[in-house]
Amino acid sequence: MSLLFSETVFGSLALQNRLVMCPLTRNRATGNIPNALMAEYYAQRASVGLIITEGTSPSPNGLGYPRIPGIFSPAQVAAWKVVTDAVHARGAKMFTQFMHCGRIAHPLNLPAGAHVLAPSAVAAAGEMYTDAEGLKPHPVPQAMTEADIKSTIAEYAQAAKNAVAAGFDGIELHSANGYLLEQFIRPNSNQRTDRYGGSIENRARFVLEVADAVIAAIGKDKVGIRLSPYGVFNDMPLYDAMAADYTYLAQQLNARGLVYIHLVDHSPQGAPPVPDAIKAMFRKTFTRTLILSGGYDAARAESDLSAGMCDLIAVGRPILANPDLVARWKSGATLNAPDFSTFYTPGPKGYTDYPAITA
Ligand SMILES: Cc1cc2nc3c(=O)[nH]c(=O)nc-3n(C[C@H](O)[C@H](O)[C@H](O)COP(=O)(O)O)c2cc1C
Repeated sequence: MSLLFSETVFGSLALQNRLVMCPLTRNRATGNIPNALMAEYYAQRASVGLIITEGTSPSPNGLGYPRIPGIFSPAQVAAWKVVTDAVHARGAKMFTQFMHCGRIAHPLNLPAGAHVLAPSAVAAAGEMYTDAEGLKPHPVPQAMTEADIKSTIAEYAQAAKNAVAAGFDGIELHSANGYLLEQFIRPNSNQRTDRYGGSIENRARFVLEVADAVIAAIGKDKVGIRLSPYGVFNDMPLYDAMAADYTYLAQQLNARGLVYIHLVDHSPQGAPPVPDAIKAMFRKTFTRTLILSGGYDAARAESDLSAGMCDLIAVGRPILANPDLVARWKSGATLNAPDFSTFYTPGPKGYTDYPAITA
């Protein structure tokens, strides 16, 4: 009896299985608005239990990369409704990931009037791609004022209402991988001396205020969060108090009763491993749904579910390349390999044209 392929209850929703599609930025949303191609792509993958969309910005200021979607304008909400309808018709539930890029952005990628904002005026090391001028160094962001913090929290809350209006079953706060929420948590990017910087109570304040605001807007059963303890992506170095800081976060998130925590472990791609003790701490401290992700195949997914390490398993690259991953894993069929060269390029190539073995 497979746990992975059996139905389960998730918050107030029923899932057709315990496989989750990871958030995957694919840069097909020309003009930052979802489209029919994206609806086709997500519908192709809707035999999983839960789809989490690609990082989607709750604010014009959060659109750090080219061609990523937003969920702050009426046109975006209407376009997402087409996507959620297509996915629901195939049986999956759908959350949208709120990704505010913060300092991982470039003015050339932002609409007129938007700003690169971050907790402190500290540029991330490295470069980022712009459609206009290719690779550019990360800029020095504007340190957010208290007024910026307030208005950004209000943007998250409004975007959460927009997500529900667009037919999403809920939202995932992207507090991983070096984007705005993690920029507040980590001491290298947060050098503030006010009540949003310094101690972990202060560095976690923005994330928790965002969580409180979206919960007040749409309810805790519709709010999950993604975290990457020990993640180093986007210039987020390891530091001594990491375990203690994430233990505090786990406790605070548990107290708020969010529907899930989604942990990232990118060690299969060469990142520092997330210690088993940290995963176990989250399992023990957080009483609702725990999702694990990073380098899973069917056997490891089944074994971690049976061991009780988590409730759901999320996969990225395997489902990117195999729209019918559930059928393939069930039957043991060979998998298509992901084509890295088309991960972030516009158009259907390497997006909707991966072959399925099932109709
Ligand atoms: C093309 C691509 C885009 C990604 N975009 C996002 C994203 O928007 N938000 C996010 O939290 N993680 C993103 N990730 C990370 C994945 O969600 C996932 O954690 C990672 O691929 C590891 O899982 P896997 O080994 O099953 O692929 C992305 C990964 C890839 C390969």
